[in-house]
Amino acid sequence: MKDGGAAVQRERGGTVSTKRGIVVLDFGGQYTQLIARRIREQQVFSAILPCTASVEEIRAQEPVGIVLSGGPSSVYDKNAPVCDPKTLDLGVPVLGICYGMQWLAHTLGGKVEPAGRREYGPAQLEIARETKLFSGLPSSLKVWESHGDHVVELPAGFHITGHTDNAVAAIENPTRKFYGVEFHPEVNHTERGSEILGNFVFEICGAKQNWSRAGFIAETVEVIRKQAEGARAICALSGGVDSTVAAVLVDRAMGDRLTNIFVDTGLLRRDEFHDTLEMLRDRLHLNVIGVDASERFLTKLRGITDPEQKRKIIGNEFISVFAEEERKIVATAKGLPVKFLVQGTLYPDVIESISVKGPSAVIKSHHNVGGLPEEMPFGLIEPLRDLFKDEVRQIGRELGLPEEILVKQPFPGPGLAVRLLGEVTPERLEMLRGADAVVVDEIRRAGLYEKTWQAFAVLLPVRSVGVMGDGRTYGNAVAVRVVESLDAMTADWARLPMDVLERISVRIVNEVPGVNRVVYDISSKPPSTIEWE
Ligand code: XMP
Repeated sequence: MKDGGAAVQRERGGTVSTKRGIVVLDFGGQYTQLIARRIREQQVFSAILPCTASVEEIRAQEPVGIVLSGGPSSVYDKNAPVCDPKTLDLGVPVLGICYGMQWLAHTLGGKVEPAGRREYGPAQLEIARETKLFSGLPSSLKVWESHGDHVVELPAGFHITGHTDNAVAAIENPTRKFYGVEFHPEVNHTERGSEILGNFVFEICGAKQNWSRAGFIAETVEVIRKQAEGARAICALSGGVDSTVAAVLVDRAMGDRLTNIFVDTGLLRRDEFHDTLEMLRDRLHLNVIGVDASERFLTKLRGITDPEQKRKIIGNEFISVFAEEERKIVATAKGLPVKFLVQGTLYPDVIESISVKGPSAVIKSHHNVGGLPEEMPFGLIEPLRDLFKDEVRQIGRELGLPEEILVKQPFPGPGLAVRLLGEVTPERLEMLRGADAVVVDEIRRAGLYEKTWQAFAVLLPVRSVGVMGDGRTYGNAVAVRVVESLDAMTADWARLPMDVLERISVRIVNEVPGVNRVVYDISSKPPSTIEWE
């Protein structure tokens, strides 16, 4: 962590805690999650709540400071998002960012107007007077703006601390500890933005650094140990990073009282069931049952071509396999009741379901197969609920998990079924596995596996004419999909080097019988999706 220019004495809290951190109120801004993350990078816990959260909900977090996020609205819009003004009476410092600053100014009696010139992108911030918020920073900074309105009259007790050549860029009322910035300190394009947030968090709010990886692990293990005393738990492993890290954490607390279930749906990639099971058992020493249910899944999928129907069948079949295994565990539980279900739910999943009520409504169309058995009478253990994906990777690293699992690209619950358009048959699955193995292998060789979000093959339901040797062929077409993304909500197709594309194409056609044509998918999300079904 970088220290600001000011010699800040940061006090370390003894234990790790999600209390006494910073609450970020979400007005629907695209950078809201980034604000929380930048604060957590400074080892202070930060939680996002929708701006509609009640004062009681906010108080329950025992925050030492509140950040009001940006948002796409104007404070004068009919349905402009607002938070309860009593939030400003909680007696803790408040930092409004962009819309958050406008809402603050507007609510306290200032005036906001559409800017004569909208500011998007880089701007030069000139700091106008000394303020704790910019302590230790140079008097001029490149910042990132994204707003159409600006503050033209300040509320009583406020003064200007910075401006760009176009607008008031920073305001404060140091007596009440209210601060506002028109630009976005949380984005990388803002010079020393983390230090600005750090000044707010430490200098102004007096937060303690009570959020560390080792502390998080120790505390989480201890909480689960107490919570699950004298009981058993089960966990559906997918072989991905989230469920594996969750299982390892719970395993530390419960040992063999945790039973993990890893199901072969018959829709996994080449060697995946065998290799993953081996790693979970032999390298991570987890108590895991491998269930080969591939026949069941493939039988149920016979003749089905509709994408939604495929997903439903797979989801339902997964529940029944899982329920059967659970019954077996209960039957042999030797007096210890099976009370808990472990899930690798992450913070963004939690936020997404909360935000649906708030302004940044997101369309959530996928659920982890591991999260399905809702009707089972279990308490949930979700040790990663407060973490972002990259934090989960760091926790996994701290727990000593092999790097290969930590950097593994996401894989959809319904597996290859959504990458095989048309009917799922063993022959077509074999073809897709062959093509997929080539794509992943070449992406790895090119050093791009960790730089891309996902790289895979899709088997299309079309055949086309080709020529191989002296003969005419009428073979299958494979689409190659390689995307870059930060969170899978949006994605762009990767501009792969031509020679990598060439090797992928040549190898697929040579090595995978039945395929005579390879195309590269150059669609972004939106309007397309990452998967084809
Ligand atoms: P789309 O295709 O909607 O996918 O752009 C976004 C991300 O979600 C993954 N995905 C799934 N993950 N269960 C999952 O656990 C699913 O049913 C599912 N469907 C899509 C997809 O691989 C991409 O990373």
